[in-house]
Parts: sequence; structure tokens; C-alpha cells
Amino acid sequence: MHLFSLENRKAFAYSVGDLTVQAPVRRLRQFVHHRRTSRYDHALLVAYLSFVLARKWNWDSRAVARAGLLHDLFWQECDNSWSLCIHHPEMAAENAARLTYLSPKEENIILSHMWPAGRHLPRCREAWLVDMMDNVVALLDYLGLSCRWNRQVEAALLPC
Ligand SMILES: [Fe+2]
Ligand SMILES: [Fe+2]
Repeated sequence: MHLFSLENRKAFAYSVGDLTVQAPVRRLRQFVHHRRTSRYDHALLVAYLSFVLARKWNWDSRAVARAGLLHDLFWQECDNSWSLCIHHPEMAAENAARLTYLSPKEENIILSHMWPAGRHLPRCREAWLVDMMDNVVALLDYLGLSCRWNRQVEAALLPC
């Protein structure tokens, strides 16, 4: 399975294409995230990598892609405060629910993505996956290694 195979790219675009064109999601490009990337690029990479793994394992890849994309949907600057760290998953879930229908699984993925920080436990394997991939991508962001993936994920959203 190639990470950026045509099949993966098409299936990903099909799962999140209605969300990535929406202004509240695109606005995340304006916010610096993890020092070296934008919140949009961070969320898109978390969504894509989680989606490819979920698809490979026959998990709910659509829920993973959509909730992965929306997991940091808030428009405050990161101030490294403990309060924002704890509360932003709830803010993101609330904002996401205004944008689209959220299944209970998608809601749990968003709410628990900061676990063990935060107040919500991952309740399904898809939530554990996004929680883990959020940490992996955060590390890549801080190390300045995520940008080369970002371009490829962006390209996945373009019509073939
Ligand atoms: Fe987050
Ligand atoms: Fe995140």
C-alpha cells in the first residue's frame, strides 16, 4: 500500500472534500501551529495519515478522516496555557457540530484527541488512532518535517 496511492487520495478527497472547502476550516491556515506549520496543515496531515492507516486496517476511515480534520477547529491563537490545552477539544467539537453532522464516534475522536490531557477518554479504536497520530504529527511539526507531506496531502484534494 502506497501512502499517496491514487486510491487513497481519491478516497480521502471523497471523505473530507465537503469540509476542506468551507471557510471556517480554511481559516485555520491563518493560525501558526506547533511553531512551524499552520493549524490547517497540521489537521490535514493528522487526518490523512490516520485515514490511510484506518483504511488499511478496515476501520472507520471516514470518521477518522473527518474528525481528524476537525480535531483542532478553533480560532484562538495558541498561548500554551493549560486551560486552552484542556478545553480546545470541546471548543473544536462544538465548532465542528455547527459545520457538519458529527456522529457519536466522530465527536469522541475530537473530544479525546488530547488524552491523557483533557477530560475525555478515547472510546473507540479510531479515537486512539487519531490521539496517537496527533502526537506523531505534532512532533513532525516541531521538527519542521511535516511540510513536505503537507504539499502531497494538499495535492490529494485536487481533482485528478
Ligand atoms: Fe489539539
Ligand atoms: Fe492537533
